[in-house]
Amino acid sequence: MKRILPLSFFILLFSNSLLIAQKSIEQRVDSLIAIMTIDEKVGQLVQFNNGPIDRTQLIREGKAGSLLNVLGTTDTRKFQRIAVEESRLKIPLIFGFDVIHGYRTTFPIPLATACTWDPGLIEKAERVAATEATAAGLNWTFAPMVDIARDPRWGRIAEGAGEDPYLGSIIAAARVRGFQGTDLASPTSLLACVKHFAAYGGAEGGRDYNTVDISERTLREVYLPPFRAAVKAGAGSLMCSFNEIDGTPSSGNRKLLTDILRGEWGFDGFVVSDWGSIGEMIQHGVVADQKQAAILSLHAGVDMDMESNCYAYDLAAAVKERRLPEAELNEAVQRVLREKFRIGLFDNPYKNCDAEREQRDILTPAHRQLARTVADQSIVLLKNQGDLLPLKNNIRSIAVIGPLADDQNDPLGPWSGHGRGEDVVTVLQGIKAKLSSQTKVRFVRGCGINDSSTDGFKEATKTARESDVVIAVVGEAAGMSGEAASRSFLGLPGVQEQLVQALEATGKPVVIVLMNGRPLAIPWIAEHVPAIVETWFLGVEAGNAIADVLFGDYNPSGKITATFPRTTGQVPCYYNHKHTGRPADDTVKWTSRYIDIPSIPLYPFGYGLSYTTFSYNGLALSSGKLHSNDSIVVTAVVKNTGNRAGEEIAQLYIHDEVASVTRPVKELKGFEKVAVVPGESKTIRFVLKADQLRFYDLSMNWTVEAGKFKVFVGPNSTEGLEAEFEYVNQ
Ligand code: GLC
Repeated sequence: MKRILPLSFFILLFSNSLLIAQKSIEQRVDSLIAIMTIDEKVGQLVQFNNGPIDRTQLIREGKAGSLLNVLGTTDTRKFQRIAVEESRLKIPLIFGFDVIHGYRTTFPIPLATACTWDPGLIEKAERVAATEATAAGLNWTFAPMVDIARDPRWGRIAEGAGEDPYLGSIIAAARVRGFQGTDLASPTSLLACVKHFAAYGGAEGGRDYNTVDISERTLREVYLPPFRAAVKAGAGSLMCSFNEIDGTPSSGNRKLLTDILRGEWGFDGFVVSDWGSIGEMIQHGVVADQKQAAILSLHAGVDMDMESNCYAYDLAAAVKERRLPEAELNEAVQRVLREKFRIGLFDNPYKNCDAEREQRDILTPAHRQLARTVADQSIVLLKNQGDLLPLKNNIRSIAVIGPLADDQNDPLGPWSGHGRGEDVVTVLQGIKAKLSSQTKVRFVRGCGINDSSTDGFKEATKTARESDVVIAVVGEAAGMSGEAASRSFLGLPGVQEQLVQALEATGKPVVIVLMNGRPLAIPWIAEHVPAIVETWFLGVEAGNAIADVLFGDYNPSGKITATFPRTTGQVPCYYNHKHTGRPADDTVKWTSRYIDIPSIPLYPFGYGLSYTTFSYNGLALSSGKLHSNDSIVVTAVVKNTGNRAGEEIAQLYIHDEVASVTRPVKELKGFEKVAVVPGESKTIRFVLKADQLRFYDLSMNWTVEAGKFKVFVGPNSTEGLEAEFEYVNQ
């Protein structure tokens, strides 16, 4: 009789084979290190930019471990051949590039895709990005950027998932899974590099590269969770940040890069510096020269030097002078080599140098279609007074006005990788594609993005008066967000708001289409214009997606993940703030508020409208008491009370009413996106675990304290149903 082997046998066999594979990697790493010279070891820790300087001889001498910004299979193959055929030890190079929101098929910026609250969709988008980037010879992306950002003056808010650690953690893990796939050695797996470690978004004044001075509790509760989630998801590398935290630059912060990252989290990948951040420690004033910088960084846990040359010029000497133990050098080399083995570069150095794939797999119709789907769901409807939207597509005439209406490049947004303006569908093109020739569509630029000329207003307002509806496409240039693009003023740049005011004064209905990389302070527009659609920078399918929403082919479902302040002066303004002893109350002078604006933000975290409406009822808890290591089930009923099918992102928040330290007024702990047709009711269900109540108490213990908690379920961070439960410490 045929014996059927138990499942446990196969599990054991599989895990053994994994162990054997891992062991073989460790053995192969160690046997390689054993025959490497100090110079060759340092070589593996050096990354050069693909610039005007010829690095081929350094590669030949084994003095380069990685190149960045080499694009295309021809060039990656050229450099790889030198490394694996002409160097002594034939160690392959790893090729890195900033694939932040797509390689050639440019997706919406990360702050936009976060508004989908759909980790599965985000993962799919990153899978496409990885497929294209690896088809172009790349092995490694400097992404996901997972920095929590509470200050929209900071231009890099565009690159992350916004202000919340819970949502940011879920999205960080989804992006890592998307990039790396299920098998690091697969030809379409792109090694992730989680950045910028850490607390880069906490820069004072929202000024890029600026000082970060936060408590350890804030560091651990707000800024670290997305990194930890990304490491748990299997990220193979991290990038340290430019900034200091409480006096220590991240490039030299051993507590961060070794004690927390490796000691507490068990990370065994490698850390790369951010550009010249190692050398910048001289500017920071914590080292006197490049050699000290190299020693401090390597000891702290930075394994690879991106572009400061401190490792290339001084690390070998530091080791030879016994100013740094060779054992620490070996550890760093081990980590880099281990990832190169894991991603299969030793077994097939040319795994991503397939010219055929490069022709076949990039900017395909399927990739564009996914980009459009993601863009549709990234759009947030901020206002729709009188149901002005969606527009009918048999409308007689439309005036499309504004500097971004027919802009071919800015919709790509910052960090657009290998994206090209020629691939972009502009807003005007998208609108025209949606309409028949019966509708008269007229375009007038009206003004520049950031200039002071109002010469174009006359033609713009004349065209508006002659049309049935005005679509004004305003916002920022792509270069006004992203790196080194902090703004001190959060309104529309230039004279764009004046243009909108002139258009509104014509008496014609105006729809504002915002194209921007950060929350904007637009109180006048919010008050006076009937319809506002936040479209961020949506990438190659921007125009089609915006037209999908404007004409109702897609009912907008996005919700913002970073608070829109009323004015620049209201910053910092985020939902999970503390109560203070005098919570803001605009009816009481002696409370924490500004005397010249209302205390609430323009649009709160989690906010977004639909062309239909939803009601929330029947909040219920499975128990009024939650015990340690237990959970309670929270349910509520969402009903579509409008006349169109739509999707609603229901959110679950908690508030710890009394604790040994002050706690945020709300903390996101769950969300669910539900599709509901008119008249239909759906029950949404959250499982709230005791562990989710944890925080750092007065003694910095990661714990839950007994006491009462409020729980909220609703459409955003300011509205919804409320209930209470008690956590019982047993
Ligand atoms: C930059 C950025 C970082 C990027 C790196 C390589 O300075 O801070 O996000 O990955 O350089 O381009």
